[in-house]
Amino acid sequence: MKIKFLVLTFVAALFAVSLQAEDYVLSTENTSLVVSVTKGGKPVYQYYGPKISDADVNGLFASRVNFSGDAYPAFGLNSSGEKAIAVEMPDGSMSLDLETTAMERTTDKNGQLLVITMKDKVYPFVVKQYFKAYNQSDIISTWTEITNEGKKDVKLLQFSSACVPLHRGNNYASHVHGSWGCESYLAEDPIANGQTVLADKEGLRNAWSNNPSVMITMNGQPQENEGEVFGCNLLWSGNYKIKIVAENNSLQVIAGINEETSTYSLSAKETFKTPELAMAYSTEGKGGISRAFHRWARQYALMHGDKVRDILLNSWEGVYMNVNQDVMDQMMGDIAKLGGELFVMDDGWFGDKYPRNDDHTSLGDWMVNKTKLPQGIDGLTASAKKYGIKFGIWIEPEMANTKSELFDNHPEWILQQKNRPIIQGRGGTQVVLDLTNPKVQDYVFSITDKLLTQHPDIAYIKWDCNAPIMNYGSTYLPASKQSEIYIRYHMGLRKVLERIRAKYPNVVLQACASGGGRINYGVLPYFDEFWTSDDTDAYQRLFIQWGDSQFYPAIGMAAHVSASPNHQTGRQVPLKFRFDVAMTGRLGMELQPKSMSDEEREFATRAITSYKEIRPIVQLGDLYRLVSPYDHLPISSLMYATQDRSRAAFFAYRLDYLYNQQVPLVRLTGVDENRNYLIKDLTPQQAGKPCAFDGKVVSGKILKYVGLEVGSVLERPMTSMALELIAQ
Ligand code: GLA
Repeated sequence: MKIKFLVLTFVAALFAVSLQAEDYVLSTENTSLVVSVTKGGKPVYQYYGPKISDADVNGLFASRVNFSGDAYPAFGLNSSGEKAIAVEMPDGSMSLDLETTAMERTTDKNGQLLVITMKDKVYPFVVKQYFKAYNQSDIISTWTEITNEGKKDVKLLQFSSACVPLHRGNNYASHVHGSWGCESYLAEDPIANGQTVLADKEGLRNAWSNNPSVMITMNGQPQENEGEVFGCNLLWSGNYKIKIVAENNSLQVIAGINEETSTYSLSAKETFKTPELAMAYSTEGKGGISRAFHRWARQYALMHGDKVRDILLNSWEGVYMNVNQDVMDQMMGDIAKLGGELFVMDDGWFGDKYPRNDDHTSLGDWMVNKTKLPQGIDGLTASAKKYGIKFGIWIEPEMANTKSELFDNHPEWILQQKNRPIIQGRGGTQVVLDLTNPKVQDYVFSITDKLLTQHPDIAYIKWDCNAPIMNYGSTYLPASKQSEIYIRYHMGLRKVLERIRAKYPNVVLQACASGGGRINYGVLPYFDEFWTSDDTDAYQRLFIQWGDSQFYPAIGMAAHVSASPNHQTGRQVPLKFRFDVAMTGRLGMELQPKSMSDEEREFATRAITSYKEIRPIVQLGDLYRLVSPYDHLPISSLMYATQDRSRAAFFAYRLDYLYNQQVPLVRLTGVDENRNYLIKDLTPQQAGKPCAFDGKVVSGKILKYVGLEVGSVLERPMTSMALELIAQ
């Protein structure tokens, strides 16, 4: 192959390179992607891996050691094998034959782009394929824009974002899956010959079962710090499909919106944009992929990713729906005394004709329940002000109950099949609003808009979503568009969120969906954080948060200290352990502080003070996972380090305890081996009685290659430690 290449780096001068170029090298700080394309031909992946220079590209073709594959295979001609796109033309033809007509390199505000335009040889049909290297990151993303340039509708039968070829070797897939209260469990399996499909068809909460992300090792079992790993994450909040195809000695990842039961009619002149597939490649194991995604997320894919979060108390597990002015005031006073900065009133505050006292009624009626809150929201924001903290509120704006004034007035606004009974969810009455309808979009926007304009002191909104799409049908969409509900719902949701963010850029939004149902980068660009799970048992949270940390950063991970015994599992967990777990994410509390003993309050106050000290390390630093809870060893451990490694926060937990049991040393891979670190116990069980490591100065080399003998400190069941390391 003739080699004329263009290096897309961050050096503007290189943009003068010839348009005739055939091999495009798109580079991030540590990785490169090479795509070959000639006019009249089809784009082909040549390489994705550690960063290579211009000079390396010749060798790439000489050795052929890397993968090569059609970058956007279309169904219809020479058609065996997996495809990224399949369509039905107005004349019934299902063939597409795309040839490249233009290649363009360009930039947008946060990255370098390569855009390849492909046109069908016969039909007026255009696909633009995008590749984007995000500045100051190690993420490259890809997506397409599909345009019908004809006069009649074209049916899109499959419209994946990408089809990425990888090396077939001893590959493993590492991904997280789960269910309510048990989200984001890590599963790591060898990739068998045939097809592995990670998908979702829930409608609204696509992280409910399998998160729209996967890591794939190039050779051998997934390791935390070693080995080559590919990672990808689909930036979409609706039904998705990631298909890993291991056939014919090759490996492909085909990812995009789940096209099953979602045929999309592309009208004349309409363009359909597929969601971005964000990708990373690491030679430092899974840890490298996670750190690449966390850094990128803080910069590009999570709202306010550079600002540390407030420490909050949420009312849910403390009082459930029994909210009222006096209790809210008391809780605000208590969290302020403990050092908290924000109070969030959860479910139960609204409904007039149908007051919300349980989950049977009122969703949709976002007016204050005057019996519970005679002074309204202003009474609550006044309390918050009195205690010097901020105030937040819970809403579930995409929903209604069939017992609500909203449903009485607008029964046509819910998703439904006109000629069938309505299936009702939570509380026996919950239904989903039809966000494909612009009027409903306006209404959903108005809920937030009214709250924030009438009560500008509201600083935080917990946006919940507690139902799947159970009634597949829209009274708004015409018959020909009914098959697009799963897609158009999320386009509608995105429009609403965009309007909210345009008008209220500073309000803090939490994405909650019955716990962790919406942990995805489809919605997170609009949200500051996600509710990780309705399971707040610190012991189980170690597994859940470990799973989420594969792709999602600690700054977005809401982790709350709740009561013991835990309301979901009944497990008794010491307060110190509960804090030491919650301190690895965005720390909060979710209990009735009135029920805490004086001793517990004293501990909580110290722990909150310590968290404030390490908050920038946890929330803005790099994560190093040290001992996995999934390895079923007696302990689990992780650490965060600032990017210059001058400070770190270290956590270890005793998961299993037998007398004289062997406990591994924990090697602190995130320290700088050329520095010495002073160790400080952040959460001594008793004030003034820190653990044995406190006050010691240990070199980075020893911490990294010998490690800490945490077993000698964690000498009882359910013990834990939180340490700060300060470079000397
Ligand atoms: C969902 C959320 C909880 C709580 C309740 C309120 O289950 O995940 O945190 O807000 O709804 O009804």
